[in-house]
Amino acid sequence: MKLTEEEKALLDGRDGRAGKKAMEILVALGNIYGARRLVEVKSVQIAGVSYDNLGDAGLAFLQEMAADGRARVHATLNPAGMDLIDWRELGISEEFAEKQKQVVETFARMGVVTSCTCTPYFVGNEPGLGDTIAWSESSAVCYANSVLGARTNREGGPSALAAALTGKTAAYGFHLDEKRQPVVSVEVCAPLEEITDYGALGKVLGDKLGSRVPYIKGLRQTTTDQLKSLCASIATYGGTAMFLAAGVSPEKVKEPRDRMTVGSKEIEQAKREMSDDEEVDFVAIGCPHCSLEELREIAGLLQGKRVSKETWIAVARQVKEAAEEEGVVSKIRESGARIAADTCFVVAPIRGRFRCMATNSAKAVFYARAKNRFRTVFAPLEKLIEIATRP
Ligand code: F3S
Repeated sequence: MKLTEEEKALLDGRDGRAGKKAMEILVALGNIYGARRLVEVKSVQIAGVSYDNLGDAGLAFLQEMAADGRARVHATLNPAGMDLIDWRELGISEEFAEKQKQVVETFARMGVVTSCTCTPYFVGNEPGLGDTIAWSESSAVCYANSVLGARTNREGGPSALAAALTGKTAAYGFHLDEKRQPVVSVEVCAPLEEITDYGALGKVLGDKLGSRVPYIKGLRQTTTDQLKSLCASIATYGGTAMFLAAGVSPEKVKEPRDRMTVGSKEIEQAKREMSDDEEVDFVAIGCPHCSLEELREIAGLLQGKRVSKETWIAVARQVKEAAEEEGVVSKIRESGARIAADTCFVVAPIRGRFRCMATNSAKAVFYARAKNRFRTVFAPLEKLIEIATRP
C-alpha cells in the first residue's frame, strides 16, 4: 500500500503510540483487502461500546489508546450497555455501571462525541452523497451507503477507532465505484406499510442473497423509519452493507441481468418465522433507535394506558431531549414504559431477565434469540402497545 509522508510518520510513531497502533491496524486491513492507499474520512461511528461486549480486556485496550490518542474527525459512538443517566431505572447493577462509565469516559478523553446511538444520522452525524466515512454499526452502515449515498465499509470497533485517531481508512470494498454496483435485481410485488413489513423484506433478501448487493424495485414512498428497519434487517440476515433501491438511493445504477421477485407469501412467511407462540414478558421498541416521529406515535398510542409488562423504548439521547421539550417523554413515562437512552436491548446486560420479547424489529429478533436466548414475538407497533398494556 502506498502511504503519504504524513501517514508514514504516523506509522513510525512520530505522533505517539496510539497513532502508530491505529496506522498499524489500517495498514494491516488495507493489505488483507488489497487496498492501494488510505483515504480521508469525514466522520466515524464506533461500535464496541457496551462493557457487556468489551469486558476488561476491551476497556484496557481503549485506555491504552486514550493515553495519547485524539480523534482527528467527528466521531460518535454506538449504544452503550445502559442509559448513561437513568441506568438504575433499567435495573443495571452498580458494578456494571461503574465499568460502563469508564468506557464512555475513555472515549471522551480521546475527543469522541459520546452520543451513543445506532442512528447517528438523527444526531448531527449525517454524511451526504459521495462522502467517505468509516462507520461500524451494521444498520447505520447500510443506511449511509444505501439511503444517503455515503461510502463506508462495515468497520469493526478497533478499525473505526483507528479511523477516528488518524482521520483515514483503507480504500477497498464500498469505497470503490465498482464494488457499489448491484449484482441482482429484485422486484418487490407486495404492499409494504408497517415497519415490520420492511424488516421482513430485509430478512427475505438477507436469507436469499447473503452479502450480494441487490437493486430493489417496487418500494413506494418510503419513510426514514421504514428504511432504517430495512437496512437493519438486510444487514443482519444477509451481512450486506449496502443495497440500491429505485426512488431511494441517490447513486446511478446499472441494472443487473440477474432477477428475482419477492411477494407477499415470502414476506408473511418471514414474519411467521420470527414469532414464537409464547407469553410476552418484555416489550422492546427502538431497534434501530426511535426517531422523534416514532416517539410521538408511541406517546399517542400509550395515552391514557398503563403498561403491564416491562417496556423499553430505545432512543438517542438528543432525540429524547427533543421529545422532552414537546412533552412526549412525560406522556410515555406516565404509562410506565421506560425510555432507554444511549443503549439498546441487545447490548444491555439483560440475558436471563426475560423469557419472551415482543418487538417490531427483525434485527432485534435475531439478536434476542442468538445472544440473549429469548423467545420472540414479531408484531407492528400498535400490536406491541396492545401487548404491553394488556392486563
Ligand atoms: Fe441499534 Fe441495538 Fe438495534 S445497536 S440497531 S438498537 S441491536
